Amino acid sequence: MQTYLITGANRGIGLEMTRQALELGLRVIATCRDPSSAAELAALEGLLDIQALDVTDQSSVDALAATLTGVALDVLINNAGVMATHQSIDDMDYEEWMTSFAINAIAPWRVSVAFEQHLKSSSRPRVATLTSQMASLKRAGSDRVAYRSSKAAANMAMRTLALEWQAKGITVCSLHPGWVQTDMGGSNAALGVVESASGLLEVIDGLSLKDTGRFLDYEGERLPW
Ligand SMILES: NC(=O)c1ccc[n+]([C@@H]2O[C@H](COP(=O)([O-])OP(=O)(O)OC[C@H]3O[C@@H](n4cnc5c(N)ncnc54)[C@H](OP(=O)(O)O)[C@@H]3O)[C@@H](O)[C@H]2O)c1
Repeated sequence: MQTYLITGANRGIGLEMTRQALELGLRVIATCRDPSSAAELAALEGLLDIQALDVTDQSSVDALAATLTGVALDVLINNAGVMATHQSIDDMDYEEWMTSFAINAIAPWRVSVAFEQHLKSSSRPRVATLTSQMASLKRAGSDRVAYRSSKAAANMAMRTLALEWQAKGITVCSLHPGWVQTDMGGSNAALGVVESASGLLEVIDGLSLKDTGRFLDYEGERLPW
């Protein structure tokens, strides 16, 4: 029985990955900031354990790691993310830019490191962090600088973590889910959440140490940094 821990599991891609993982018979520790208002998550059936986690709050992260002491984690999915609302050159909210870094760039490292012992208890531990092709230097654009820069920083943090953890046998990858119809992606997005989540889960299922440090999309294609 494999155990997955997913952050930001109350809506969007995180909720759908949780739903599909449960359908596959996996045990899912689904985390979100406020479980009491996560009705859609609570309605899911299967080997589901819902836990509170604010990925930017060290005491929240430490508390969950302590609660889960002794639990072997096969997969950690750093899914929680944010898209700033004021991030253009003419209309910049610098606090939001800082928050984008806290959630998108620093939290995946913070959460991964807190769960190192749990991951090391698995025979095939994997960390998958959702970033974005908008972070790729090859696809640089003039919009959404808070999002692009924070996700690019997440990519670099995950590459560094991959090198740090290679000798420990923990695989670390960045994944792009596609442009997906969620609150963040909007209704005009190219991809449904079901297709994105199933692709991501298939890619994650197949990850091994030979993939560590890679940047892949939801179909398993390698992306340029
Ligand atoms: N949708 C796309 O087109 C797209 C494209 C590329 C990459 N991505 C990435 O894919 C991931 C999921 O995106 P999505 O489209 O599902 O986004 P979404 O619908 O906006 O959901 C974002 C999730 O992140 C959670 N979250 C935000 N800050 C958090 C924090 N401090 N602690 C814990 N959870 C937090 C939210 O929880 P609350 O409900 O509490 O706010 C929510 O569950 C993100 O990392 C995003 O950047 C998405």
